[in-house]
Amino acid sequence: MIYLKTLEEIAQMRDANILVSRTLGEIAKWVAPGITTLRLDTIAREFIMDNGGVPACLGYGGFPGTLCIEVNETVVHGFPSNYVLQDGDIIGTDCVVELNGFNGDSCYTFAVGNVDPKVLDLCKATRQSLDVGIQACKEGHRIGDIANAIQTFCEARGYTIVREMCGHGIGKKMHEDPEVPNYGRRGTGSIIKNGMCIAIEPMVNLGSRNIVIERDGWTCRTKDRKPSAHYEHTVAIIDGKAEPLTTFKYIEDVLGDKSI
Ligand code: MF3
Ligand code: CO
Repeated sequence: MIYLKTLEEIAQMRDANILVSRTLGEIAKWVAPGITTLRLDTIAREFIMDNGGVPACLGYGGFPGTLCIEVNETVVHGFPSNYVLQDGDIIGTDCVVELNGFNGDSCYTFAVGNVDPKVLDLCKATRQSLDVGIQACKEGHRIGDIANAIQTFCEARGYTIVREMCGHGIGKKMHEDPEVPNYGRRGTGSIIKNGMCIAIEPMVNLGSRNIVIERDGWTCRTKDRKPSAHYEHTVAIIDGKAEPLTTFKYIEDVLGDKSI
């Protein structure tokens, strides 16, 4: 069941989405060699709560963090921990904030210090594929058109798409219908309509597309332990096209030309 939002509801969704965007902007100030991922998680939690929001991942299905932490080979759903970030790592921080009864969901993969150019290129392409997916998200088109645009863009560059994990509808609940895969055929899936709100989130690997779930039941990593990148925006379909509700501008304000 896909819940189409009114313009009033979309206006309410903006607040949660701005707050999650600002939270990732706050994290951008701290990502550096020597910090633990648990410290980043605490910073995010305190920032969200100081601004009247709810860290929606915390306790969701038993998840132990405010941020999903995705270091190097971790694709999604890694736990904050005592791991100390190292020069050359990449780290995705995926965050969901609830505010005024609506959710905002965004993820950004950061470079920690000096990262292998091949891995940076993976990150850049994954971020670009998110924009390509957003461009393909138009009223009257289908979810498969978004998926195919992302897949075609990434595979043309020699990268692989994680298939087991998807984007999703979002609103009063973090996860609503429809599923938004990052691979598939044009002309398939639900028809995109004005009022739909979806989180688009390509998860793209340098090596093979295969993943494994660790014994903690959450942490998803690449089977070959090669790096994976992940970027995510929440968008609303308004007047026929996808308008991002989240933004990376707060991150870019912090990182300047070090942003990906
Ligand atoms: N952004 C993730 C997603 O899109 C967040 C869910 S992780 C959980 O699904 F911890 F909240 F489960
Ligand atoms: Co999401």
